[in-house]
Amino acid sequence: MVKAVVLGAAGGIGQPLALLLKANPLVTELGLFDIVNTPGVAADLSHIATPAKVEGFLPPDDGLLKALKGADVVVIPAGVPRKPGMTRDDLFKINAGIIKDLATGIAKAAPKALVLVISNPVNSTVPIVAEVFKKFGTFDPKRLFGVTTLDVVRSSTFVSEIIGDLALSKDVVVPVVGGHSGVTIVPLLSQSSHSLPSSVDGSAYDALVNRIQFGGDEVVKAKNGAGSATLSMAYAGAEFAGKVIRALNGEKGIIAPTYVNLSADAEGGAALTKELGQELAYFSSNVELGPGGITKINPLGKITEKEAELVKAAIPELVKNIETGVNFVAEAYKAAEEPRL
Ligand SMILES: NC(=O)c1ccc[n+]([C@@H]2O[C@H](COP(=O)([O-])OP(=O)(O)OC[C@H]3O[C@@H](n4cnc5c(N)ncnc54)[C@H](O)[C@@H]3O)[C@@H](O)[C@H]2O)c1
Repeated sequence: MVKAVVLGAAGGIGQPLALLLKANPLVTELGLFDIVNTPGVAADLSHIATPAKVEGFLPPDDGLLKALKGADVVVIPAGVPRKPGMTRDDLFKINAGIIKDLATGIAKAAPKALVLVISNPVNSTVPIVAEVFKKFGTFDPKRLFGVTTLDVVRSSTFVSEIIGDLALSKDVVVPVVGGHSGVTIVPLLSQSSHSLPSSVDGSAYDALVNRIQFGGDEVVKAKNGAGSATLSMAYAGAEFAGKVIRALNGEKGIIAPTYVNLSADAEGGAALTKELGQELAYFSSNVELGPGGITKINPLGKITEKEAELVKAAIPELVKNIETGVNFVAEAYKAAEEPRL
């Protein structure tokens, strides 16, 4: 019995993600919330012959709280996508407030849910959710995830393209660590389950890393003003949510890269910090999942000199992004009344 909730369920990512969650036989209830169109999306999905009972909610009459009631897993693709010429800072200014409000709803109505943040910039929106939960006294770092799976999915696809067999892509596993934007995305290609041809060195290696780091730009450009990745993101979001749900159901040994608060596993977090040579509150690494969320944060392990350079380049950007999220919440609450449950 798993209740999954999508916040931003009528959007470009939200709709196909809701479809894929409706198709997941482990989901028995699906709550959909958006500021528009959820009754229609819910009615449409409710005709699909799978176990999940679907309900759609809009903001009036405490719709957010009603959607969230009893949620085990909450996935958040709400907000505005990147358009050509828009920077991550522009995006942050719009999405930060949306995420803060939705996190407030989760703290009130589903404080024990596992929360999966898709809304960009993930490096900053995850800290926003954490800071809001801290204000309400409901923060459990084991239950909060930044969804970086699209970088993992892109790595599998691009590596299998280079190998020359797309049919391999579902089996190609490349850990992607760091964060979820530009240079903070660090694919550990040396740990790929399938080795790259020896020709992929020097500039070919740099081009592959660059394509994984900036794959989102390819889509933004091709969509030409109509938004960013939606279908591949919905696939990736459903992949990650599916793993979280299987772990929630008691399946053991499920591991996936995700952007987490390193206090979720003190020992694993300390080992990772030692590898990084610097304290960071959040970082994406391979994480083992259990019924209560994160059970173990895995270290980077053996990486090449080139990968160590990429990690080093990611750190200052991550520090800045994390601070931006934390400061946003501190500023927002400065003048406002302290929150109450
Ligand atoms: N993590 C990733 O890899 C990744 C990849 C692609 C896009 N994204 C991000 O996902 C987000 C959504 O992208 P999209 O293409 O689906 O955008 P979209 O505009 O198509 O959909 C966003 C939806 O959010 C809804 N929304 C806005 N404010 C809301 C609120 N307060 N409460 C509930 N819903 C609200 C909108 O009504 C809309 O339906 C963006 O922030 C985008 O940058 C993340």
